[in-house]
Amino acid sequence: MLKIKKLVVFSTILVICCLQTVMANEELARSNNCLACHSVDNKIIGPAFKDVAAKYKGDDSATATLVNKVKNGGGGVWGDIPMPPNAAASDADIETLVKWILSL
Ligand code: HEC
Repeated sequence: MLKIKKLVVFSTILVICCLQTVMANEELARSNNCLACHSVDNKIIGPAFKDVAAKYKGDDSATATLVNKVKNGGGGVWGDIPMPPNAAASDADIETLVKWILSL
């Protein structure tokens, strides 16, 4: 009985932690203005983050390539509209965001 209680408490903590991470990442995307052009599920001006994750699934070099692209901007992959450079976002934030996007 005690074991089950412990398990429930542990699972609850785990769920809360995961939810907080997801929300923190979305908040980071919002504060860096990514959500002006992107959303997790739908194409806005840029591709849906879930589509980006699907495209680069299994590509180990994607993180480095995408960090570079988000920082410096660029186009031609998803359509005619290029992404402008995100100069205001810090390198650490961009890396966190790209890793989160690829995990979706
Ligand atoms: C002004 C609009 C705009 C903003 C702001 C913006 N993006 Fe983009 N993003 C785009 C467009 C447009 C594309 C598609 C570019 C292409 O076709 O190569 C894109 C593509 C991407 C891609 C995929 C790149 C590829 O080569 O497949 C990622 C990842 C991405 N954006 C992340 C971000 C992140 C993270 C931020 C915030 C720091 C951000 N974007 C801010 C418009 C934007």
